[in-house]
Amino acid sequence: MAESFLVNTEGSKETIYRSLLGQAKALRVDGDPAVSNVSNLLGLLQQTFDWWWVGFYLVSKQELVLGPFQGPVACTRIGFGKGVCGKSWELRESLIVPDVHQFPGHIACSSESRSELVIPVWFNQEVIAVLDIDSEKPDHFDETDRNHLEQLLPNFAADIEKLRLSV
Ligand code: SME
Repeated sequence: MAESFLVNTEGSKETIYRSLLGQAKALRVDGDPAVSNVSNLLGLLQQTFDWWWVGFYLVSKQELVLGPFQGPVACTRIGFGKGVCGKSWELRESLIVPDVHQFPGHIACSSESRSELVIPVWFNQEVIAVLDIDSEKPDHFDETDRNHLEQLLPNFAADIEKLRLSV
């Protein structure tokens, strides 16, 4: 690995996501520990977008359990259907929340969070985790984020499944 890892933060969001997707695939090494691959993915996302919080909640029995993340300390467990994360798991679909204060049952791990994007991670036709992203800016996420991240996550689903089984 080079001394400093350069990310593209210039141009349109599409351009940024296109180079991010290439870098994410290149960063992931077959045979490296799942925790290393997933942690580097989150490092790449955070270095690129500088979100307030980004990380995975892993499905374990009837709840979501905090997995690898970048950002401030967060809640460890979230119930099925609870908060934005639990609702995305229950509905098995991505949720874009422009204003978290308007989302019934939103779980405020941090009072700084204003908008949120949650994307389910699929493995063997099951939702095994969710990617949770929080921004301190209102209305920060759109379909471009959702589409590109939905495209990116399958590359890491097997690693995330390994992490989940260790919870
Ligand atoms: N806000 C989330 C909880 C997780 S934290 O934001 C990291 C929710 O409502 O599910």
